[in-house]
Amino acid sequence: MKKASILLLVLMLILVGCQSDEVTKTEVNTSETETVDTKDTEEIEVEEVVEEEVKEPFVVNPESLRAKAAEHGIYIGAAVSMGDFGFDNYLNTLFNEYSMMTTENLMKWDRISAVKRGSYNFVAPDMILQHAKDHDMVMRGHAIVWHDSRPDWLKVAWTKEELTEVLEEYIEDVMGHFKGEIHSWDVLNEIISDENGAFRESRWYEIMGTDYIRVALIKAREVDPNAKLIINDYSIEEINPKSDALYELAKELIDEGVPLDGIGFQSHLVSGGIDFDSMQANIDRFQELGLEVQFTEIDIRVLAPFTEERMAVQKEDYKQLMKMALDNDIDTFVLWGVSDTQSWVPMWFQDYGSPLIFDNVYEKKGGYYGMMEALEEHEQ
Ligand code: G3I
Repeated sequence: MKKASILLLVLMLILVGCQSDEVTKTEVNTSETETVDTKDTEEIEVEEVVEEEVKEPFVVNPESLRAKAAEHGIYIGAAVSMGDFGFDNYLNTLFNEYSMMTTENLMKWDRISAVKRGSYNFVAPDMILQHAKDHDMVMRGHAIVWHDSRPDWLKVAWTKEELTEVLEEYIEDVMGHFKGEIHSWDVLNEIISDENGAFRESRWYEIMGTDYIRVALIKAREVDPNAKLIINDYSIEEINPKSDALYELAKELIDEGVPLDGIGFQSHLVSGGIDFDSMQANIDRFQELGLEVQFTEIDIRVLAPFTEERMAVQKEDYKQLMKMALDNDIDTFVLWGVSDTQSWVPMWFQDYGSPLIFDNVYEKKGGYYGMMEALEEHEQ
C-alpha cells in the first residue's frame, strides 16, 4: 500500500533586534502558538513540521472479477484469517479480486469472548474491518449463535432465563460493537440437524427450545437495524428434508413477525453433483417468502486426482453458480477462502480438494474464468 506524506513546513522567523529571550512556535494544523524560553536573544516564530498521512483511494482494476461482478450488483466475498495477512500474494489477490470479507473463525463466539462473560477481544476483527474499508470492501459477520462455537464459560448449566439474558447481552455487545459496519450477520448458524430436518439438539435447543431463534433475531434487529439478519446452513441448497424444515421455520417466523432477512446457502458443494434445477426451485420458494438468498461459504470440491476433465466440470459448476446468482438477484457470492491454500476441504474430506478459484500459488483457476464468462454473457 502506498502512503503519501505531505511535508508542510515553513520556518519563519523573525524579529530582529528583539530584546526578549523567547521563541514563538506555531503548529500549522492547530494554529496554536506557544512561547518557549531560549537563550537566544531573538524571538523566532516557527511553524512546526506536521506530517500528515494521506491515504490514496483504492483503485479497483476494471478487469478484475470484483469489478465485473460489481457491474451486476454482486459482491465477491472471501473468508479470511488474520495469519494470512502477512503474505503479499494473499493480500494482492484478496484486495484486487474480492469486494466482501467475512472472518473464517475470528468473529465466532469462542474467539470474541473466549475467557469470560462480558469480556471481548475485537482486535483482529477490527483490523480486518479497517482493511475492508481501506479497500472499498464490505463485511459479513459470522456467526452469532453456533453450537460448534461456545467458550467454556458458556457451557455451564444455565436456566432458560439466564441463557436468554446471556444471549441478549452478547448480541448487544458484539453486534453493538460493529453496528452500522456489517452488510449481513449470520445470526443463526446450522440450527437444523442432518437427520430428517429435525432441529439440531444443541445446548441452545435443549435449554431454550426454539425460543433462542426468536430471541436472537429480535435482539439482533434491535441492536443493528441496518444489518441483514441471516439463518445460515449447509446442505440446504437443494430441495430436501433439511431445506424443507428450514423453509417451514422461515415461514413460521415471518408469520409471527420475527425479523429475518434471508437464508445463507453455505454451498459447500461437490463438483459434478450439483442439482441446479432443484437449487433453482429452492431459491424460488425462499424468495417467494420475501427472503433473500445469499451464497455464504462456497467451495466446490473435486475428487482427486484433479484431471483436466474434472477441473473442466468444476469450471462449469462455478459458471452455473454465478449464473444462478445473476438470474436470481443474489448479491452475495462468498468463497470459503481466498485460494486453495486456505481451504478447510482437504483436511475434512479425504480424497477431495482443489475447491476454490485460485490455486496454491494464487493463479486463477477454471472456476474464476467460469464465473467471468457468466458475468460477461449475462445481459445487464
Ligand atoms: O489455530 C489452531 C492451531 O493453533 C492449532 O495448531 C490447530 C490444531 O488443531 O487448530 C487450529 O485451529 C483450528 C482453526 O480452524 C484454524 O485453522 C481449529 O482447530 C479448527 O476447529 C478450526 O476449524 C474451523 C471450523 O469452522 C470450526 O470453527 C475452520 O477453519 C473453518 O473453515 C470452519 O468453518 C465452518 C463455518 O464456520 C460454518 N460452516 C462450515 C464451515 C466449514 O466447516
